[in-house]
Amino acid sequence: MNKKVLFVFGTRPEAIKMAPLVKAFQAEMLFDTKVCVTAQHREMLDQVLDFFNIVPDFDLDIMEPNQTLNSITAKILLEMKPVLDVFKPDIVFVHGDTTTTMAASIAAFYSGAKVAHVEAGLRTFNKRLPFPEETNRQITSVVSDYHFAPTTTSKENLLRENIAEETIIITGNTVIDALLESVEIVKDLKHPEIEQLKGLIEPAQQVILITGHRRENHGEGFIQICEALKEIALKNPKMVLIYPVHLNPNVQVPVNSILGQISNIKLIHPLSYPAFIWLMNRSKIIITDSGGVQEEAPSLGKPVLVMRETTERPEAVEAGTVILVGTAKDKIIAETQELIDNPLKMERMSQLHNPYGDGLATKRILDFIKSLENA
Ligand code: UD1
Ligand code: UDP
Repeated sequence: MNKKVLFVFGTRPEAIKMAPLVKAFQAEMLFDTKVCVTAQHREMLDQVLDFFNIVPDFDLDIMEPNQTLNSITAKILLEMKPVLDVFKPDIVFVHGDTTTTMAASIAAFYSGAKVAHVEAGLRTFNKRLPFPEETNRQITSVVSDYHFAPTTTSKENLLRENIAEETIIITGNTVIDALLESVEIVKDLKHPEIEQLKGLIEPAQQVILITGHRRENHGEGFIQICEALKEIALKNPKMVLIYPVHLNPNVQVPVNSILGQISNIKLIHPLSYPAFIWLMNRSKIIITDSGGVQEEAPSLGKPVLVMRETTERPEAVEAGTVILVGTAKDKIIAETQELIDNPLKMERMSQLHNPYGDGLATKRILDFIKSLENA
């Protein structure tokens, strides 16, 4: 009988990074593959499902405005039970470090299924940074049976936690698989969002792309970030700052109130994945606190300033394409201005680097699961 495989995810970045795997498993006759979305994100998840043409078999539809960690966790634990009872998967795939990841991995473990964790082993070893992701990923590692680590550093982190070596497979990150495939599609794509973006940018104008959403930056962190962006825009009137604003109200409110009236700052709706790739490619500098963007930008040769105090993705910092600038206003302004004013530094940081993968992570994961099949 075919092995039953269930993919569970809920937010935008998990969907992007799981999409190549879902496609690969669905194409493989050896497996009975199903997809369960928690919909911890609704609109931002659906944007990704549409682009990759993924139709979930189960949709828990849990999102509420301004949801809490408790409500996300409780709903997933309860609402995954009937899904697991009906489908009875042999293996449940979870991804990364969201609260969907953590709660779904526990629900899967309780059901008796094997848990496969994609993007395993990222660590800061500070349980509140990022919050709650560092703790989510540690909990997920404890209940997982197979650990797909993107890099040797992430494998070493897992070994430090006494995870059995034979269960850790270094694969690269599936974000690069998704990116390389999508970059090709974007080249010839006629997309209304891309046309709208072209309308915001004058042909010779340089673009600074901004994204931000981390929970630990809510409140004072976002105020500092917005004040910094305001000053950068005012100091550099010939540049345009484009910011697709995350739908979390804790982000929307400060961003719109502090940055809403500045002519060379364009606050826009979250972009579909292809339009966002187009915009990353069109940008000179990216300022972000996003995990996924830190992984994608070095592959596109884009310098990244990361508005966080620490990162679980040290590889691109070591390669020199990413600088950690924290969330203090003055430091964000100084580091950004230094990059704008120093073409040599800009050039050095714009070297292409692929520390997170070669586009074959999906194949390595599939091959590993198939090898279990044959065992
Ligand atoms: C979540 C993850 C974070 C991940 C990020 C990616 C947790 C605790 N956080 O953070 O690890 O990096 O997603 O973006 O798992 N909202 C909408 N529509 C959407 C999405 C969100 O309106 O499509 C609003 C809702 O009011 C929702 C709020 O954003 O309650 C917060 O969403 P939530 O998933 O709890 O937190 P994120 O900050 O998005
Ligand atoms: N992204 C997108 N549209 C946007 C902003 C980001 O499709 O408007 C993509 C981006 O390419 C990356 C992912 O979303 O793959 C990152 O998501 P996010 O920053 O929300 O989460 P994180 O990676 O920090 O968990």
